[in-house]
Amino acid sequence: MQLKNDLLIRAAKGEAVERTPVWLMRQAGRILPEYRAVRESVSGFIELAQTPELAAEVTIQPVDILGVDAAIIFSDILVIPEAMGLPYEMVEKRGPWFPNVVSSAADLKKLRVADGVDDLSYVIDAIKITKRELDGRVPLIGFAGAPWTIFAYMIEGSGSKTFSKARAMLYTQPELSHQLLQMITDSTINYLKAQIAAGVDLIQLFDSWAGILPPDHYETYSLNYIAQICDAINEVPKTVFAKGAFFAREQMGKLNCETIGLDWNMGVAESRKMIGDDKTLQGNLDPAALYGSAKEVEEATRQMMAQFKGGRHIANLGHGVYPDISPEKVKVFIETVKNYQSQ
Ligand code: CP3
Repeated sequence: MQLKNDLLIRAAKGEAVERTPVWLMRQAGRILPEYRAVRESVSGFIELAQTPELAAEVTIQPVDILGVDAAIIFSDILVIPEAMGLPYEMVEKRGPWFPNVVSSAADLKKLRVADGVDDLSYVIDAIKITKRELDGRVPLIGFAGAPWTIFAYMIEGSGSKTFSKARAMLYTQPELSHQLLQMITDSTINYLKAQIAAGVDLIQLFDSWAGILPPDHYETYSLNYIAQICDAINEVPKTVFAKGAFFAREQMGKLNCETIGLDWNMGVAESRKMIGDDKTLQGNLDPAALYGSAKEVEEATRQMMAQFKGGRHIANLGHGVYPDISPEKVKVFIETVKNYQSQ
């Protein structure tokens, strides 16, 4: 189907655009009262994510309410461990929790490589419904966690400040680590291919815990697997967002992907130099800037836009929008990007 607004896709490919496209990581859910109303009609996050009609509804809410240039399918990166045989729970106010974790070869034996269509049919159905209901208004972004970030949750069993169990595994059981990372990578490729077959227009990999690895481990245990995914997927443009991986920007510039996401610690000019001119950069306003007044949000957004100097750019925050940010401030951010003219 022809997209009526394809700014995101053109910007990703480095084609000419009338203005910079804008969307927000974690835009579906959390910040919108309309999302919370839908969520309260079911038992919780997991039921919502597994009910395709409702997942489609909350995916489209930010397009209608905020005016973003893309939708991102409502799901979570943790559906992959679940599809591999390691289910998770979402504990109110505390986040994800896994009743079982991987700590030995015996645990690994109980897992399987997920099939994107059979094991994750609820996401695939949600994508099909969303595409139909969006009717080409904006592109739909599909996503997955990067293998290292998924590995971190599967070893640790929950969020953590240090992910020390997961990082210890890389030192104490490197072979087991590689085996699990390969299974996650193969599952993720199957899953992203199924998302693309169902209609997503672009995919993004979230490596949320990139920044806790030393550079050599990052290359061995994360980038190598991200590169496999990028090489396996050539049907749609790909974005890699590796939070905190400032030390790996030069290598990220060599990935087979169109766009690199920058967090708010990564200087734009310096990143452009390290990554090169043949990639689009996405980001990178500090999410906390949206706690300022409307005037301050506008000013901070204009400063962010000026740093990208009209080069290949997709406007976004430097990480997901915080749950207690007012939707009104998000609208100021979006409108400021849309009205921005680079001098
Ligand atoms: O971008 C979107 O709005 C689409 C949906 C989406 C969710 N999670 C829904 C969600 C996306 C893209 C994610 C990605 C995700 N999930 C990441 C990578 C991005 C990042 O922020 O670094 C990570 C690390 C997770 C794991 C996760 N899921 C955590 C740590 C938590 C709890 C804390 C939090 O961020 O809310 C979740 C829960 C979750 N995932 C919620 C939503 C809307 C909140 C659940 C609720 O409704 O209570």
